[in-house]
Amino acid sequence: MISNNNAPSSTMPIDVVIMAAGKGTRMKSALPKVLHRIGGRALLQHVLDTAASLQARKAVVITGHGAAQVEAACEASATAGFALEFARQEPQLGTGHAVQQALPALADDGVVVVLSGDVPLTRADTLFQLIAASGGNKLALLTLEMPDPTGYGRIERASNGDVKAIVEHKDASPAQRAIHEVYSGIMAVPAAALKRWLARLDNQNAQGEYYLTDIVRFAVADGEHVVAHKISDAVQVAGVNSPVQLAELERAYQRGVALGLMEEGVRLADPARLDVRGDLRCAHDVSIDVNCVFMGQVHLGEGVSIGANCVIANAVIGAGAVIHPFTHIDGEKLGVTVGAGSLIGPFARLRPGAELGEEVHIGNFVEVKNSTLARGAKANHLAYLGDATVGERVNFGAGSITANYDGSNKHRTVIEADVHVGSNCVLIAPVTLGAGGTVGGGSTITKDTPAGSLSVARGKQVSIANWARPQKTAKP
Ligand code: UD1
Ligand code: MG
Repeated sequence: MISNNNAPSSTMPIDVVIMAAGKGTRMKSALPKVLHRIGGRALLQHVLDTAASLQARKAVVITGHGAAQVEAACEASATAGFALEFARQEPQLGTGHAVQQALPALADDGVVVVLSGDVPLTRADTLFQLIAASGGNKLALLTLEMPDPTGYGRIERASNGDVKAIVEHKDASPAQRAIHEVYSGIMAVPAAALKRWLARLDNQNAQGEYYLTDIVRFAVADGEHVVAHKISDAVQVAGVNSPVQLAELERAYQRGVALGLMEEGVRLADPARLDVRGDLRCAHDVSIDVNCVFMGQVHLGEGVSIGANCVIANAVIGAGAVIHPFTHIDGEKLGVTVGAGSLIGPFARLRPGAELGEEVHIGNFVEVKNSTLARGAKANHLAYLGDATVGERVNFGAGSITANYDGSNKHRTVIEADVHVGSNCVLIAPVTLGAGGTVGGGSTITKDTPAGSLSVARGKQVSIANWARPQKTAKP
């Protein structure tokens, strides 16, 4: 049902048909075309998400090439809010034939919005305007003027301006080819009328296909008024047929994301050098330097600063934290949290399950995985903390590591508050270092250490007085 602010006042249910059976030959890819991604989401997922914003009652996806794979991908990322159905089209005999496959799934009381799975950036408000133009009882076409209309269906109008027909490029006369207004591939049409008109289709045309666009002629022949809702933003109806077009739409999408972030106050060093492949939420006064990539769900708290060339996925970064350049944070399923006021990087790596408290310092070439670091803990240089529980104010020296894996199983290391681990230590898990203790540099720690103790576990230093270095022997 329509109940959105942008929605027309009609109460007619909206059903969406998404054509996604085509092969996508020019992608030269084993992956079905509609599963290629923009902004980290499959092309078809963008269209399904648009259907969700229309508050559609149902979406019917027409599948053909790679049908099983396309259907599985849709189901795996099911968009809540509407019924999702599939109709297979085998073989693919044209767009009219494609929509015919959906008819059994469409109730007569709805208005049908026809979309394509390879046209990802149509805005919901544009579709609401199209539905409003159809008034729930007319065929409404989304059209636009194209400087070069080659290949598109032309909108042929009568002398009074009424839409008469869509003429496909291959069937068009030179005079018709001179028309610049084209059909975008998107229409809104009352379901009952759609069913009547599709029953009359034939394939007597230059391509021997069943053209969906022929229903315009039938509507006009029935004395019905066909309306065109013309837009000027070509990106909204641009389809993906090739890697070049995929990359162009990716840039258009990213530009939109960057503008949205800047409108919310995010300071981007260069909106053209940001990639968001998921959902990036920012509090006030966030700044992001060039060439950063955000994936999955990322939340940046107030005043967070992200240096150049960071890749950040599935992470929550607390207020005032500074992520220095070239840092890689990937929370995957477990997530990563960085506490307020922390300093991370440059060249740091935070892996799934890294939970850093406030004012933690993680420096260059430090890797943290599945570990909790309490407030004020520091590991500033060349270290590995895996499966560790690290207390407040712990200082973990340069080159030190937790040896968490015995070749078969992972074990935990517990480093209690205020422990100082010197440089180049190996802590062989499972092991616990008692609070306030110190571990001498170069130690391999295999046993628990008592609180407040100094533990040293390395070969004793021996100095031999007045030692004469061997002399070079003369070669024979
Ligand atoms: C179609 C329109 C044309 C319009 C253009 C806009 C027709 C006859 N022509 O042309 O007026 O200007 O879109 O881009 O509709 N598909 C199927 N099954 C099929 C055929 C196509 O699912 O049997 C799918 C394709 O995968 C694609 C969409 O329908 O997603 C459109 O098909 P495409 O071949 O690109 O249409 P055009 O011939 O370009
Ligand atoms: Mg075609």
